[in-house]
Amino acid sequence: MKNFLRVLQFAWPYRGRIVASFGCAFMAAILWGLNFTSIYPFLKTLQSDLAPNQWIATWLQTLNTEIDAAEEVQSRFQAREKEIDGITDQKFAEKQLRELTSQQVRNDTKIQWLRSKKHYLQLIKKNVVDRLPDDTFQNLLCVVVAVILAVTLKCLFEVAQDCLVGGVINRTIYDLRNRCFGHVIRQDVDHFNEQGSAGLMARFTNDMDSLSTGMKTLFGRVIAEPLRVLACILLACLISWQLTLMFLIIVPAVLLVLARIGRTMKRATRKLLERMSKIFQILQESFQSIRTVKIHTAEALERRRFLVAIRDYKHRSNIVVYLDAIAGPIIEVLGVAAVACALLAGAFLVLRQETSLFGIRMSEQPMDPEALIQLYVLLAAVSDPVRKLSSVFTKLQAAWAASDRVFEILDNVPKILTNPSGFRLETLSGSSQSIRIVEQQGDLAPWVEPTDETPFLRFQEVGFSYHQGVPVLRDVSFDVKKGETIAIVGHNGCGKSTLFSLLPRFHDPDHGAIQLFGYDLRKYHLRSLRRMVGLVSQNAVLFDDSIYANICYGLKTVPKEQVEEAARKAHAHEMILKLPMGYETVVGESGNRLSGGQRQRICLARTILRNPPILLLDEFTSQSDPESETLIHKAMEEFIRNRTVFMITHRPASVHLASRILVLESGRIVGLGCHSDLLQSCVAYQKFYQSDYRRKTA
Ligand SMILES: Nc1ncnc2c1ncn2[C@@H]1O[C@H](COP(=O)(O)OP(=O)(O)OP(=O)(O)O)[C@@H](O)[C@H]1O
Ligand SMILES: [Mg+2]
Repeated sequence: MKNFLRVLQFAWPYRGRIVASFGCAFMAAILWGLNFTSIYPFLKTLQSDLAPNQWIATWLQTLNTEIDAAEEVQSRFQAREKEIDGITDQKFAEKQLRELTSQQVRNDTKIQWLRSKKHYLQLIKKNVVDRLPDDTFQNLLCVVVAVILAVTLKCLFEVAQDCLVGGVINRTIYDLRNRCFGHVIRQDVDHFNEQGSAGLMARFTNDMDSLSTGMKTLFGRVIAEPLRVLACILLACLISWQLTLMFLIIVPAVLLVLARIGRTMKRATRKLLERMSKIFQILQESFQSIRTVKIHTAEALERRRFLVAIRDYKHRSNIVVYLDAIAGPIIEVLGVAAVACALLAGAFLVLRQETSLFGIRMSEQPMDPEALIQLYVLLAAVSDPVRKLSSVFTKLQAAWAASDRVFEILDNVPKILTNPSGFRLETLSGSSQSIRIVEQQGDLAPWVEPTDETPFLRFQEVGFSYHQGVPVLRDVSFDVKKGETIAIVGHNGCGKSTLFSLLPRFHDPDHGAIQLFGYDLRKYHLRSLRRMVGLVSQNAVLFDDSIYANICYGLKTVPKEQVEEAARKAHAHEMILKLPMGYETVVGESGNRLSGGQRQRICLARTILRNPPILLLDEFTSQSDPESETLIHKAMEEFIRNRTVFMITHRPASVHLASRILVLESGRIVGLGCHSDLLQSCVAYQKFYQSDYRRKTA
């Protein structure tokens, strides 16, 4: 509920439209109620031979007689008052006077009521009835034409209301989606791993749709239907408020039913939305891994997985359908019972020409049958909006469940904050290989060359784990000089990529720190730090766009020559020119229209174009053929000069680019030094190197 109200904050900027839609709903409700009042003149005209101006004149005459009678009673009361003044028994006189005063007040109210009724009847007579033709049939025709006009007008108001409400909701959902995406894209990498992309996608699509339906219901039906109910009830009260009150006894029962069903509905819909997330996940996995599915001939398995998920969804949907279906009829039955009670009571009064029921005064004068039918029609008309309101409640519950899920993502606070007041980093003008710190105010910090005490980069007893109690990196400590190239080697899963992810702060260490220029990375402005770091990751993923756009990704305007130059350095230029559309070739989803090696080279070109002073290369040539690998290495030799480079590799041939090699084993450093030193001192490195040697000589 709280979260659903928070959605309304997003609709607040469009309050003008919402108010206008309320106005339309109000007008439509009045016209809707008034349409039903056409029954009375219709029946009256059919029942009597009198023309409308004659029966309204008769009505006025009756009213005059009633007013005269009431005024006469009032004058009798005044005479009685004088008599009471003469009574000597004080107590008795006071009692009599009290009774008389209350009777006078009642009679006075009656006179006022009759006079105002007379006034309105005279107005209707003067402005409407006197202008009607004398012929009865023509009169009926006028009533019918008036009803058609009123219905048309009502429909126009309804259309306007729908359009206004629809517009507000579309704008609100647009703003909400935009805000959510802005928030989600800033979340930690961990958040995406935990939530899963399919789960997040479901919140942006399916859940937002439920939310939009809920809001449409809130601003549409929740406003319009009660207004209709109110219009009918008010008009019915004008005929007999006592009988209308009898009908209203059902209200608490209806609310009770709605509350019960609503609670169950919210639970059911929440589960339904979760099942839809699961379906999204299966679809995403099967389509993205279609080759794996096919080579393992696992189509049947995937179908079964999907079938189980949609069967579960169907089952949950059925529960929602049942709940949605039963609310309306239960309320209808209650409504009909209440209308029947009121009708029976009214019929008793009409048939017996009585004004009281069980000693309770129900009307001033006996009702005429036309008035009773009019009352019945108005009360019966209430059932239509009430029935619609029953589904409103269930839809709102669904929207509440959806809003909880949507706001879950908006309420998640990232652990790694942007630190806008932190030190900013920038590359030295003219030399993109060096960086310096810029103070927040824009003053340049004094340029200090890294020394032995404060090296360029320092890993200080760094420890990290994804899950508590399962350390991935332990006590990793080493210094890196500016412009140095460090190769990182080690078995699968020993923590190499994790170590990389700490530098652009995808994660922060649990213990220890990584320092740049002697300052903890957490002290820097996050985005300026990330701009200094280029990463070619293990999984080369491209966007479904042209190769040109993929290379320029994240940069504003880049001259074509620079893009081509970067592609040449990554040994990708010739390969791109051989593609049918050259640089304009669209690479498909995740770049799957290209080979793995081609993708890697485009990713490398993208990073080269950014010209970062710190470069992280995670198995960047793992998918290249030996010849291409040699050419890439040759091109990279020039590029990595004076840059600080970390290079993860499983190929001993690649380590010649590095000045030092770091050997990791189960998250610990077991060797750090140059190739020849490590060959003598580090057993793990010896094994690593010899395995490749054996492979080559085999
Ligand atoms: N997002 C994650 N959540 C939980 N555990 C993870 C996550 N990413 C990696 N791990 C675990 O952390 C450990 C180190 O993973 P990492 O990717 O750093 O290994 P690696 O040395 O790069 O291996 P490889 O040579 O195969 O690329 C592994 O045991 C892995 O299961
Ligand atoms: Mg890795």
